[in-house]
Amino acid sequence: MIRNYETVIPYKTWTGVEAEDKVRVFRMDNGSMTYAMAASEEGFLMHIYYGKALGDDDLTYVLKLNEAPFTPKGFAREKGTFMDSKPFEFPCYGIGDYREPCMMILDDEGMSACDLRFKSFRVEEGKPALKQKGYTCFPATFAEASDCETLVMVMEDDAANLLVELSYTMFKNSNVITRSAKVWNKGYSDVRISRMLSTCVDFDTDQFDMITLNGSWARERVMERAPLHHGKQSVDSMRGESSHQNNPFVALVSHKADETTGEAYGFNLVYSGNFMAQAEVTQHKKTRFVMGINPMDFSWLLRPEEEFQTPEVVMVYSANGIGEMSRTYHDLYRNHLIRGQWKDKKRPVLINNWEATYFNFDTDKIIAIAKQASELGVEMLVLDDGWFGHRDFDNSSLGDWYVYESKVKGGLPHLVEEVNKLGMKFGLWFEPEMVSPDSDLYREHPEWAIQIIGRSMTQSREQYVLDYSNPEVRDYVYSMIRKILDTANVEYIKWDMNRQLTEVGSTSLHRKRQRELWHRYVLGVYDLMNRLTTDYPYLLLENCSGGGARFDPGMLYFSPQIWTSDDTDAIERLKIQYGTSLCYPASCMGAHVSDCPNHTVGRTTPFATRGDVALVGTFGYELDVTKIPQADRDAIPGQIAKFHRFNPLVRTGDQYRIGNLFENPDYDAWMFVAKDKSEALFTFVQVLAKPNYPSKFIKMAGLCAEKKYQIEETGQILSGRTLMEIGLPISVHGDFTSKTLYLKAVEE
Ligand code: GLA
Repeated sequence: MIRNYETVIPYKTWTGVEAEDKVRVFRMDNGSMTYAMAASEEGFLMHIYYGKALGDDDLTYVLKLNEAPFTPKGFAREKGTFMDSKPFEFPCYGIGDYREPCMMILDDEGMSACDLRFKSFRVEEGKPALKQKGYTCFPATFAEASDCETLVMVMEDDAANLLVELSYTMFKNSNVITRSAKVWNKGYSDVRISRMLSTCVDFDTDQFDMITLNGSWARERVMERAPLHHGKQSVDSMRGESSHQNNPFVALVSHKADETTGEAYGFNLVYSGNFMAQAEVTQHKKTRFVMGINPMDFSWLLRPEEEFQTPEVVMVYSANGIGEMSRTYHDLYRNHLIRGQWKDKKRPVLINNWEATYFNFDTDKIIAIAKQASELGVEMLVLDDGWFGHRDFDNSSLGDWYVYESKVKGGLPHLVEEVNKLGMKFGLWFEPEMVSPDSDLYREHPEWAIQIIGRSMTQSREQYVLDYSNPEVRDYVYSMIRKILDTANVEYIKWDMNRQLTEVGSTSLHRKRQRELWHRYVLGVYDLMNRLTTDYPYLLLENCSGGGARFDPGMLYFSPQIWTSDDTDAIERLKIQYGTSLCYPASCMGAHVSDCPNHTVGRTTPFATRGDVALVGTFGYELDVTKIPQADRDAIPGQIAKFHRFNPLVRTGDQYRIGNLFENPDYDAWMFVAKDKSEALFTFVQVLAKPNYPSKFIKMAGLCAEKKYQIEETGQILSGRTLMEIGLPISVHGDFTSKTLYLKAVEE
């Protein structure tokens, strides 16, 4: 799959002297996709191609090393022009390429330029794990040796004594390439790495739309699409988390690309902290795309012999539209990123007390909810915020992870036993990265909060962030969590993170390493999550960050599900879940039915619609089941039965987006189709009802054209082809109403 060959390209230097370049071409092919690069004799590592599979040709002509734009000197190859116009694999700052670089340093002499040249390469079977010294775990996709191959390009900067390894893993059966970079200080002086991104792709065109997932609290990952224009267009986070505001995902798609046609290049960073993703349209109407850790306020001291590893970018290519790009991501993440015992299992239907009670609960109230819920078929009770320290509101006790006895009367083991006796599992909320000023932990260890000594500390939600770069802090928090887990039968943890970082300084890091805190914080979080999931492998970990502020592949490595958004309104969720589905599978989207009027937007939607929308994910309830209208309560067993029936299809099947609220705000529709095309679930949700329109014909998607399908609800039998070309008439009555159809392949 990985090949390289050597060719000689003649050219004339700017002095007119004839010369020749020896070029080594490196090419990765998996049958449907090709990625190619070349190292010139001088060692410049240049990008040739990324896209649909190519023929078996010599690709060196693409580099056109002997052709330069017209200059009075004729065949000029002045380094300045050359560096600023040619496509590079990992551009460095300060040597004449004025586009966005991947790497920049500050050496011992105070110089910032670097110049990496190709030295050697190696091919590894499979995919080596990423490592950063001092931390137990670095999230990344994983695969068997038979699934993929890795090309490692070894580059060196001789003046700065740095060795950089660029890793490219190509998957054999899907159009995925992952990229990351590692730098090693092989010299005798300290070097600061002031920027080290994970990927760069220099495309030969600027004819792309850029798709990003943006938003805010309660409206995360709303899709935005705009054509590229000259200059730089980027999304990023400087908040210490991947963020509500921008997700570390970008797709560059051809202008006319839709769900089924056109090209799509997806980029998703396996990282949960500060990131940047940028497309730059250059003077020559080409596009440089870069992605990695945000260089803003980043600096890493590399002492002799030390290494720095970047996170990886998952790059997905689709020649058949945006839908195929999404399904490639879904399969990759379900099979090669998400881990643990719950990875391929149906998750328990849960009831969470947050919107039911907020902080106002006690043991009796929780047992009453659990009792009623268990009778209706709910399988797990999750006790949310407020069970610890003396927490009655969000102004105290984070860090004091021992039970609030006067609220949880009889203690936690008692409550868990009572819930277990009802035949339900028990789950618990933690916010392990935080400390309240009003807490025993903060009173004892004020130095454990992230802070800059001498400056006032910003509070957000009346809390501070713990310094997870400090192993002592991690050990302490973990010992508290362990005490709970070792005394009560807790089978699920909702790991929350409710504020962003400010005054980013650490009392435990050396002053020369202070700017490493942003990244060390994230690595520290990963470290603790890794210990938790290793020591308690049965635990179902759900990630959360004020809703979905850390919905990223880094978190998916530890938690097979993430709370998608605090906004549980079924209609708002359509856009949120659509955007999320661009790269994240439904199997990981936390989705609950909540009470109406909805707490976030005040909207009232039918109970059935709330259920149909929450089926696209891990299913549960977020309401006081003892107080909701009787009709809603009566509907719960049916909804749960629907979840049990269709979740295997949703969790393991292929998702096809049919409606697109961004283009047509009237309705949304989607399908989940079994991998073998034997069955499918179609869902339609109307937004506002409009008078006097005939029923809409909605075209199905993803079916086998040759198969016949019976529609369970009507008994009608139609071929996949007809269902996809004409579609089915769908009519529903009333605002926010929904309809599901089950299609089963039948023998004629
Ligand atoms: C965050 C979460 C909510 C809930 C609260 C508790 O906002 O997203 O689901 O757990 O915290 O304080």
